[in-house]
Amino acid sequence: SGPIDNPRGALVVLEGLDRSGKTSQASGLLSYLERLGLSAELWRFPDRNTCVGQMISSYLTNKSHLDDQTIHLLFSANRWEKRSLMESKLKSGTTLIVDRYSYSGVAFSSAKGLDIEWCKGPERGLLAPDLVVYLNIPPEKASERGGYGGEKYEQLEFQRKVAQHYEILHDATWKIVDACLPMEDVAKQLQELVLDCVTKCQEGKPLSNLWS
Ligand code: TMP
Repeated sequence: SGPIDNPRGALVVLEGLDRSGKTSQASGLLSYLERLGLSAELWRFPDRNTCVGQMISSYLTNKSHLDDQTIHLLFSANRWEKRSLMESKLKSGTTLIVDRYSYSGVAFSSAKGLDIEWCKGPERGLLAPDLVVYLNIPPEKASERGGYGGEKYEQLEFQRKVAQHYEILHDATWKIVDACLPMEDVAKQLQELVLDCVTKCQEGKPLSNLWS
């Protein structure tokens, strides 16, 4: 089958430990896609602009205390409140580059000791990414990169646990890129992966739901 009439955009997620380079790579990817004349947007979770996002932000900056289950559900709600907009953007042909998604949700909460299946529960039914790129960096290396910003989870011991929990989540849609390579090399690999994914979506790969 050839190109279809209203090609949809791709849902591309970048995951990785804090300081793995996701945010810089995501904005590099956006300019790359725009240079190719593709419609694309950069999204991130948590989205701190909503009411729920502000509660999350005050938790992360230690201005409020919430128990582990509550903050987990807020992170999830923060994705749910964006789901319909996400779907309409994708259907109208815009590719979304998303800095963190449900995998962060499950990896960080299960690293605190919450049951992994319980953590996945509220994520079921969100849109499934067409591609997840994991920027792989040893926790020690990440912690050396210009230091952490001082938010709640930015501690080496905890990041080690998160890395172990990310490993449990790897599935067929994941691509692992070595985040210790020079930035340009990481960018090149990402560009290839994303272009391939965008093409498949344009050719009619259907949207699906996460973990259902
Ligand atoms: P950020 O630094 O990318 O803005 O993310 C803030 C922190 O929140 C980061 O340490 C990862 C964590 N996080 C979760 O614990 N659960 C989630 O669902 C998401 C999206 C992020």
